[in-house]
Amino acid sequence: MSSTLSRHDTIADNLAFHVEAGVDVALGDEPVDRFAESAAERSVAAARLATRPAEGAGPRTATAPPAFTSPRPASAPHRAPSGPQPSPALPGEAPPPPDLAAVEAREAAASAPTLEALRELLERFDGCPLKHTATRLVFADGNPKARLMLVGEAPGRDEDIEGKPFVGRSGKLLDRMLAAIGIDRTAAYIANIVPWRPPGNRTPTPQETAICLPFIRRQIELANPDVLVCLGGPSAQTLLGIRDGITKARGRWMDYDTGTRVIPALATFHPAYLLRTPLGKRMAWRDMLAIESRLAALPARSND
Ligand code: URA
Repeated sequence: MSSTLSRHDTIADNLAFHVEAGVDVALGDEPVDRFAESAAERSVAAARLATRPAEGAGPRTATAPPAFTSPRPASAPHRAPSGPQPSPALPGEAPPPPDLAAVEAREAAASAPTLEALRELLERFDGCPLKHTATRLVFADGNPKARLMLVGEAPGRDEDIEGKPFVGRSGKLLDRMLAAIGIDRTAAYIANIVPWRPPGNRTPTPQETAICLPFIRRQIELANPDVLVCLGGPSAQTLLGIRDGITKARGRWMDYDTGTRVIPALATFHPAYLLRTPLGKRMAWRDMLAIESRLAALPARSND
């Protein structure tokens, strides 16, 4: 009896430990030694890259830096991407290691002529391990033709269920912040740096972020907003290349080069931070007013 009790205690302690650590999903019955897999992964990924059509298959090569020169989405017809396509992993095939996955991501993202094509590419892209633990891709919400684009860090649980960014508690607060300056989701386009939910809402690793970065950059380029808003420090650091924390970086206009033009970008507090730290709302309100004035000062777009 006592041994049963102590076994229960051990299991309960173990469970409590994992819950506190943010684990809310069981991925398999048996532990997997990822290190033991890495050699096999490297050779599979090298073979994938070696067999990809290179010449004439698309505008970019494996060694080319990400360039952002395709036409504006308003005039780009929706067609299948003509460049290198991410090859979906075969059943049992290991995903490419992160550095090769980042190369694949750059090539794939650059080849997407429209946002819809980019979404389709992401649906097929197997290079980011988060895809395999998330329920679905969380690509974007709102109006892709909006002048304002907001980029968060990564989807949470609610977003993973619904397939749309910022639909949970922080999304509701974001909606209220936008409403305060007369904007709703028909006048804003919303996405995340990482489009798949990290397990247990953990922070995406630098490698996961690096793999997803070409896609969000291309998404911004194709959406072609007039003003970019980074929600939270990780978004600001990733997109604006700054090292400052959000408290220092927020409220300062910076330049963001989409690849086809330079647009004003502002970092502000992430709504999830504001839910935990309501004192920050005063500063966030200032940022919203700055966004409102900046949008008002811009000339109307031809598609407005
Ligand atoms: N936090 C984010 O950064 N993005 C979401 O979509 C939801 C919460």
